[in-house]
Amino acid sequence: MNTELDIDLDLQTVLLTPQQLDEITTRMATQITADYKEGAFGSRPLVMICVLKGAVMFYTDLVRKMERPVELEFVKVTSYGAGTVSSGQLKMHLDLFRTDYSNLNILLVEDITDSGRTLSKLTQLFRDRGAHSVRCCTLLDKPDRREVDFTPDYIGAVIPDEFVVGYGLDYNERYRDLPYIGILRPEIYS
Ligand code: PRP
Repeated sequence: MNTELDIDLDLQTVLLTPQQLDEITTRMATQITADYKEGAFGSRPLVMICVLKGAVMFYTDLVRKMERPVELEFVKVTSYGAGTVSSGQLKMHLDLFRTDYSNLNILLVEDITDSGRTLSKLTQLFRDRGAHSVRCCTLLDKPDRREVDFTPDYIGAVIPDEFVVGYGLDYNERYRDLPYIGILRPEIYS
């Protein structure tokens, strides 16, 4: 299987090939384009916000496939509370430099939704700033890991609770550059 792929030996298996990722991003861009075409959504700017760093590959593929103008923005956040002690705090390391959000449709773009804290906090943040609409798009969803009541508006693939890397996702900053997503061998991280 996947004989044409040069698979990293640290991976136990490939979860999504480059071709599957291409199909997912095409499907999602078509859906999002259609959803933001009509009425108040269509007449206002669509600002797609990449949640760095993990989403970067998904984001650049997705925005290139959108069949309408989009504005590009980036945030970098650290979410505390993923461990046993849950503070629910979100620290912004990179933010937007805008003053008026009232005319904007915001679409947050994530690589993976795990506990759901990052996207639910960012959604609340941009709602509090007065955005006309705020929606979330995630390439991967791990619903088994959810710790808060949150469902992304757009989901590329629902995956099992495995340690996945590649296509932007890392383990200790490694594997982000792989053009596919795979499951990391447990002996690498345990
Ligand atoms: C990962 C991922 C999401 C977040 C999801 O980011 O990219 O941003 O965790 O987890 P949650 O649903 O539990 O909030 P990470 O902090 O690893 O940073 P990175 O994107 O720079 O790798």
